[in-house]
Order: sequence, then C-alpha cells, then structure tokens
Amino acid sequence: MDPLPHVIIFPFPAQGHVNSMLKLAQLLSLSNFDVTFLVTVDTHDRLVNHTDVLSRFGSGFHLQALPHGISMDGVNTRDGISMLYYSLNTIAKPFLREFIPNSSVTCLIVDGILSMAADVAEEINLPIIYFRTVSASSFWSYFCIPELIQAGELPLKENAKDLTLTKVKGMEDFLRGRDLPSFCQASDLTNPDFRIVMTETRQTPRAQGLILNTFEDLEGPILSQIRTVCPNVYTIGAVHAHLKAKLATKSTSSNSLWQEDERCMSWLDTQPPKSVIYVSFGSVAGLTKEELLEFWYGLVNSEQKFLWVMRPDLIIGQERKDEISVELEQGTKARGYMADWVPQEKVLAHRAIGGFLTHSGWNSTLESIVEGVPMICWPRFADQQVNSRFVGEVWKMGLDIKDTCDRDIIAKSIRDLMEKRNGEFSQRTEHMASLAKKAVNEGGSSYINLDRLIQDIRSMIP
Ligand code: UDX
Repeated sequence: MDPLPHVIIFPFPAQGHVNSMLKLAQLLSLSNFDVTFLVTVDTHDRLVNHTDVLSRFGSGFHLQALPHGISMDGVNTRDGISMLYYSLNTIAKPFLREFIPNSSVTCLIVDGILSMAADVAEEINLPIIYFRTVSASSFWSYFCIPELIQAGELPLKENAKDLTLTKVKGMEDFLRGRDLPSFCQASDLTNPDFRIVMTETRQTPRAQGLILNTFEDLEGPILSQIRTVCPNVYTIGAVHAHLKAKLATKSTSSNSLWQEDERCMSWLDTQPPKSVIYVSFGSVAGLTKEELLEFWYGLVNSEQKFLWVMRPDLIIGQERKDEISVELEQGTKARGYMADWVPQEKVLAHRAIGGFLTHSGWNSTLESIVEGVPMICWPRFADQQVNSRFVGEVWKMGLDIKDTCDRDIIAKSIRDLMEKRNGEFSQRTEHMASLAKKAVNEGGSSYINLDRLIQDIRSMIP
C-alpha cells in the first residue's frame, strides 16, 4: 500500500486561526491524510474536555500540545501579539526542531505569520505551505505596507485618513487611510505588533504555496495581485462551507472553544423570517462600557428583534452585571435575547436572521456571506478595517460604520439594513451566497484548488 501523506498543521494560537485551520485539517483527513495539529496546552485541554471535535476525526488525526509556556491569554492586550511571538520563538521553535525529524512528515502547513516554522523547514529541507486566515484583501494590504511607507503614505496623518491610498495595487479607488489594518493606524510605526505583521507577511514567498480561506468570485482582482508575488495560491474557501459540502450535510461542525447556548435556536424558531439582527464581536474584541451602552441603546431604539452574543469578557475591565436603565431592560425583555456564546454558523443560517452587526472578523464575514446575510460592520482591529471596507464599498453587502459609535447612527443603520435598504443588500448577498456555494461544490474553483493542494502534497512523499 502507498504511504499516506502526513502533514503537521500549526495555527497561530487564537480562536479565529485555530477554527479555520482545524477545518482544513478535517478536509485533509477526509482525503486520507495523516494530520498532526499543533495547539497550545490550554487550547488542547479545551478541545479535548469541552468539545466533540476529536470525534469528527479518524485514527489518522493527532492533536499535539506544544510545550507549556505559550498561551493565548492576553493576546488582545497592547503588545500581546509580540509577547506571544516571543514565547513561540523561544519555546515552539526548538520544540519543532526536535519533533519534526521524528514524525515522518510530508509537508508543514503553517499559519502564514509563523515564519520561525519556515526557518525550521528550510534547515531540514522540508516543504512548507502557508495558510493565512485573513481575507486576500487584508493579506494584500499587509503585504504592501513597505510600499506605503516608502511613498510617505504611512504613518497616516490625522487629517488624511479619508484620502485614498495609491500604493495598494488593485485598491487605489477605494482604500482610505482609515481602512488600513488597525496596526497601521498609529501616528508612528514603532508598535512591535505592527512590525511583526509587516515582516511576517513579507516573507510569504518563502513558502511553496499559500492557502487562502476565500474564493475566486469574491476576491478575484486582489488574488491576481497576490499571484504576482506568490504564484502558487490555493483558494479553498469558505472552508466551513467546503467541509459541509464534502460531508454532504446541512448541519455545521462548530470548532468553538466555548460552550454554546443552544436555547437561542428555539428562541429564533419563534421569530418571523428575517426579523432578527444578530450581534457579535467575535472571540477577542472588547468594548468599553460607554461603547456597549451606545450599541445597547441603538439596538433597543431601532425597535428590531436582536440576538446578542455578550461574552463574559466582552466589556473591557468590567463585570457586565452593572445596573442598566429601565428603558434598556424593558426593550431587551421585549425584543432581545442575550447569550454568552452561540452556534454562530447555525444562527446565521436560521431563517429568522435578517442582518448581522459584526466586528468584521474574517470567519464571521465569510459565514455571513455564505448564508446571504447583509452586515453592519464595526471593525475593531487587525484585518477587520479592510474587510468592512470591502463589505460596504466593494461588495455592497451592507454598511461600514467604522470609527463611529453613536446610538442614533446605530439605530438608523439597523433600521436601514433590516427594513429600508434590505432588498438592495439582500439581492447582492444572495447572489454572492450562491457563488460561494458553487465554489465549494464539484467543479467549483475552491473544490478544484483543494484537489490540487491534495495532489501537490501527495507528490511530495519521498
Ligand atoms: C480573529 C480576528 O479578530 C479576525 O479579524 C481574524 O480574521 C481571525 O482572527 P475573531 O475576532 O474571533 O478572530 O473573529 P472571527 O474571524 O470572526 O472568528 C470568530 C469565530 O467565532 C467565527 O467562526 C464564529 O462562528 C465563532 N463564534 C463567534 C461562535 O461560534 N459563537 C459566537 O457566539 C461568536
């Protein structure tokens, strides 16, 4: 019997990254690959003890914990990413040097911001393929940062944030300073997180290929730009939809690290079609108490039904048990449902959902696109600023309200999305949703690219 390919998959240790790379792991397992998936000890324990993730894989899947000392706690604090990098370099890199040679590995599939794994792969002459969990558009804007600096467009000048930039090829007509990734928004460029993202991204051509969780009909023009510097791009997204198509199932396979509140689904069952706006700011982003209240008043004043994920750590530096006004309490009782964490893919697929108020994380954006749900985007950090610009200005699938946080604007935007302009947005989201589904079904672009990836890795077996 021919030997099976064995890949080590190494995501950056954060929920958004682990989520989509675990789905790639499952796709490769379905093609008879042996897969070793590397995670921090805390993620390992959460996946083993609190989820049924492992039951979805066969005997060829192995969840491997990295040594102690690398944790994603604190990643959303200032310098959080640089601290995590330091521990990855000092702990994970020597671990990889020992672990890989003893594991008969065919190929490494590594998060594209972990170039230290490329160092190790090059030392031992092992093929490496990068996976970037962000959109092609944000990846490309990260990649062009040195050109922006050279042209004097970075650092951004406070009064020039609404001007379009000239050095991100393919986006010259619409990408403004304020749409650049959050790392680029500072008035100086000394932030260590900024330097890490810039230098890591620039090293992408070191890998034999680049996997992106997107599809050609969504980001074709930007993918053409990326192919000028990384010719071998595998667009295999949306990976969650791809997995559903391969499993020929309507049900979702959540990779949540937290307990999901399933009761919200019964609440949704009692609501009319497209009557509920779903609100979530992802797994990391926090809000100040003032921002939270603006959103809360905006939601209640919009008089629409809402389902809001209020993670226990959502409010920065605060317990959320504080008193709220009678007005908010009554409005929430009448029209709202609050949950700590929900099965988001299932929620977005529910017929009662008519809109999504989101922080524009890439997984959330793709999940919304696949279900044809229009969005209101309030981006917080990293790639989210770019994603929201594409939703609002390029794909025209919703409203980008970045850099504002005002209850009246929020209430008006919700009413516009859910009522006044719903037809206009729904027409586009439904069209893109059908293209998204076409991409992952037999003969579609993502389907073909995954096949090519699988064949390419098989051909690497010595
Ligand atoms: C991070 C970054 O913020 C994001 O911009 C980047 O693209 C990936 O890494 P995160 O902020 O968590 O991720 O956002 P997002 O990418 O949207 O991922 C959140 C995931 O959590 C989604 O897959 C979503 O389905 C899931 N989720 C969210 C739930 O399962 N339940 C919830 O209640 C909320």
